[in-house]
Amino acid sequence: MDLPRTIIEPFRIHAVEPIRITTREERAAALEAAGWNLFAIHAEDVLIDLLTDSGTGAMSRDQWAAVQHGDESYAGSPSWYAFLEAVQELFPFPHVIPTHQGRAAEKILFSVLGGPDKVIPNNTHFDTTRANVEFTGAEAVDLVIPEGGDPQAIHPFKGNMDVARLDSILEACGDRVPVVFVTVTNNSGGGQPVSLENLRQVRAVCDRHGVPLFLDACRFAENAWFIKTREPGQTERSVVDIVHDMAALADGMTMSAKKDGLANIGGWLAMRDSALAEQCRTMLILTEGFPTYGGLAGRDLEAIAQGLREVVDEDYLRYRIRSTAYLGEALDEAGVPVVKPYGGHAVYLDARALLPHVPPLAYPGQALAIALYLEGGIRGCEIGTVMFGRHPDGTETPAAMDLVRLAIPRRTYTQSHIDYVIEVVIAVAARAAELRGYRIADEPPALRHFTARFEPIS
Ligand SMILES: Cc1ncc(COP(=O)(O)O)c(C=O)c1O
Repeated sequence: MDLPRTIIEPFRIHAVEPIRITTREERAAALEAAGWNLFAIHAEDVLIDLLTDSGTGAMSRDQWAAVQHGDESYAGSPSWYAFLEAVQELFPFPHVIPTHQGRAAEKILFSVLGGPDKVIPNNTHFDTTRANVEFTGAEAVDLVIPEGGDPQAIHPFKGNMDVARLDSILEACGDRVPVVFVTVTNNSGGGQPVSLENLRQVRAVCDRHGVPLFLDACRFAENAWFIKTREPGQTERSVVDIVHDMAALADGMTMSAKKDGLANIGGWLAMRDSALAEQCRTMLILTEGFPTYGGLAGRDLEAIAQGLREVVDEDYLRYRIRSTAYLGEALDEAGVPVVKPYGGHAVYLDARALLPHVPPLAYPGQALAIALYLEGGIRGCEIGTVMFGRHPDGTETPAAMDLVRLAIPRRTYTQSHIDYVIEVVIAVAARAAELRGYRIADEPPALRHFTARFEPIS
């Protein structure tokens, strides 16, 4: 069939959820009560929630039906086997360890592999990954290619690892590197993909130094779609074949099923190495649960199994990537600085470029995210100096970029919702010069962006 000119949602809506329109005064009061931290705003006071694409998507009719098949047996539930089969159809690792979400997989793996003196390279660690590495005393090193740190640089695979830097780190301290990670897509770097060619080169470097390679595979299907549409020689291949190639290049993976598992909760850790799996399962039993359910109910395992079959549907992925680009293109045409090319799951506003009068240590990303909420009830997420600026020793430096991520929950908002978001962002950008920075009034020792309280700088 010829493709329609407009790439439409390959589904229709079967159940609806109301969203609540608030007044500007209500939103101002909500912000003040939340200490200007958008994580502390009640979700009912948010009109369009683009805080995260994690666990916020709509499940399909077939996933809800699968939930009814959930078998809650403690050990050896059929739901576990359905989950295992669906995971291994895409990622044929012999050991699959279910966890309640991605960071639990990270916690278990880094408890086993991390520790003081260890160094973990990644293209860019996500916040929970970095925190879990650093919590063990290990050092988290980001090695994305230079284009990945430049919001305006155009590169089809801006999430790629800088292979030469990886090689020199492994040369200098290979015995202190227990694992190399590649995050697909690179969330903290703008949702940018990693090419198969880059994964092959990373693999070759890891092989030379005898270090295993793991994927942080949260958005593996979106990454595979970018490979299919952007990498020479891949266009005619199926997404599933490309995912198999990605898996074959790795020794293991961590996964949050809240993203490309199309589920509201869940994750896993998978690997080839039996001895490592044994150690991880021991940690799993201590912290999550028995190895055939991990931190999940049988019904969650079923929802993920079905979600994994739906997420590699190419009509879904075409719509998903196109609808994200629709938001990015409209903002770019209106002159709003955005990270380009557009990411798979999110559009990232370049707050440092839009608010040059707000220094990074006065958190331009936070200022912009707050303004979007106040203006139109839109909740985005600062990805910048609030999230990454503070170091384990308590010192603070500007992050590489100050961005506001507008993450698009999967299969949840319509084009008119996105048109409304475009109007609000353009309205805020038009009076960007009036926005002021923030200071932190109170912060926890780690992952401060979740619970810190802010104060506007007058
Ligand atoms: C790249 C990446 N890794 C790891 C995680 C952690 O997953 P979870 O939120 O399920 O713990 C996330 C979540 O946003 C992510 O985007």
